[in-house]
Parts: sequence; C-alpha cells; structure tokens
Amino acid sequence: MALTEVKTDAVAAAPGGRTRTVHLRVWRGTAAGGEFRDYTVEVDENAVVLDALHRLQATQAPDLAVRWNCKAGRCGSCSAEVNGRPRLTCMTRLSSLPPDRPVVVAPMKTFPVIKDLVPDVSFNYEVAKTMPVFRPGPKGPDGRYRMTQAEVSRIQEFHKCIECWLCQNVCHVIRDHQENLRHFAGPRFFVRLAALDMHPLDTNPREELARFARDRAGVGFCNITKCCTEVCPEDIHITDNAIIPIKERVVDERYDPLLWLWRKVTGAR
Ligand code: SF4
Ligand code: SF4
Ligand code: FES
Repeated sequence: MALTEVKTDAVAAAPGGRTRTVHLRVWRGTAAGGEFRDYTVEVDENAVVLDALHRLQATQAPDLAVRWNCKAGRCGSCSAEVNGRPRLTCMTRLSSLPPDRPVVVAPMKTFPVIKDLVPDVSFNYEVAKTMPVFRPGPKGPDGRYRMTQAEVSRIQEFHKCIECWLCQNVCHVIRDHQENLRHFAGPRFFVRLAALDMHPLDTNPREELARFARDRAGVGFCNITKCCTEVCPEDIHITDNAIIPIKERVVDERYDPLLWLWRKVTGAR
C-alpha cells in the first residue's frame, strides 16, 4: 500500500452518528527535520487513534505518511508513540486518552524516520537474518513429531509476537544509545531465542544458542528493566519468561564447570 493511500471507509460514523472532536498534534517531517503540527478532526465516538489519523489524511493532510495494514492489532504495522507511550494506534481508543489535552502522535523514536509517522524498521529485519533457525531432529517411528501439551504451552506465548517492534522501540539499550545497535539484538529477538531454546524438537546445540545470546545478541546489555514487557500488546512476559531464562542459560554455559563436565560425560544438552 502506498504510504499516503486513503481508506475513507475506516472512518465511517458509528450507528447513531455520535462523533467526537479530537485535537491531534502530529509529527510531520522527514529524516532532514520536522515539527509537531496541530489539527482538529471529527471522528466516530468510539474511534481509535488510527481512525483519527485516517480522517486527518482524508480531509486535511493527504500527504500524511502513516503505516498500517490490518486495523485489528494483528499485523504490527501501526506502531507509534501516542502521548509519549509506544502503542498500536489501531488499538488505542481515543476515549482512553485525556480529553482535555491534544493527542500527540510521533513516530517510534528508536528507528530513523522516513516520513511523518513512518520509521525505517529495517534494523529488525537485518537482525532477524542473523538469528539461528529451527532445526528439528528426525521424526518418531510413526513418522510424526510429538510434543507434550506442557511443552507446547511453554512456547505458545512466544509465538504470539506480531513484530510490532514496540519492545525494540522502548528498550533504553538502543533507544538512548544508538551505538549499541551493532551489538544488541533487542527484546523481540530474545523472545525468538527463548522459543528456540525451549523447543523440545530443536537440535541446535544449547551451548551454541547460549553463545549466540551472549556474543551476538548482547543479552548482557539488558538490565531487566521490564519496559519491553510493559508495552507488549500481546502481553508476552518478555523479561520473566524469555530474557531471564536466556541469561540463566548463558551463566550456566559459561560458569558451571560441573554442568559442563556432566554434559560431556552424558552427552545431554
Ligand atoms: S528488560 Fe532488557 S530488553 Fe527489556 S527494555 Fe529493559 S533493558 Fe531492554
Ligand atoms: S514481543 Fe511484543 S512488543 Fe515485541 S515485537 Fe513482539 S508483539 Fe511487539
Ligand atoms: S494496523 Fe495492524 S496492528 Fe494496527
């Protein structure tokens, strides 16, 4: 979809025609510079922030760049900072925001801006290319893979990720220190590593995954502030369920000589 394409059906009035007036303060600009601009739009009483942006685009700012796709909290495209907090704009009801102040909408700060509310999130895709991949072992005698329900449940949470990059955006390790982008994969990718590490059918040597987490993904930079967990729209417990187990794995691999010896003798992973 072109960045400026207008979907007027997304701002249809509610049954009964109740509307609300919204004061928007939207960041407009490019990598070369920009500014916040004020607008007033009329939207459906139950509208979300993305509706207001679409109404703005349809009526006053046809060149406003805003990225979206599903308008249902499933694609992760519409991430932005609303009143300073990273959010999916399609899942943020205007009625949940203070009515007496403008709704301030800015692009995610951690990534370079392309135009208006559209950032360049290609950093994340470059990291994704470097990640270890799932390597299943041979199938069972009946030709099938088998996992217990407990094993399925343990990693199910991680597979809810919609790659909205809100956790990446809020993580201070890269948000405030862009020089760390070369050394730190970010919370979304710790979720991916944890999903692999806890997958009972994956055959990647666990010490290699631990080395990757430590040396390539930079899990040591994380100081467990839990900011990533707080903004995750899928309610993934990133810190407790992914990052801390990975850190424990790294410590085990590096510092536990008995575990190392036991694995050498038994061949266990
Ligand atoms: S818990 Fe770690 S990965 Fe998550 S935001 Fe804090 S420093 Fe970043
Ligand atoms: S872990 Fe949560 S916040 Fe991070 S990219 Fe996935 S869905 Fe978004
Ligand atoms: S438009 Fe798909 S998550 Fe918001």
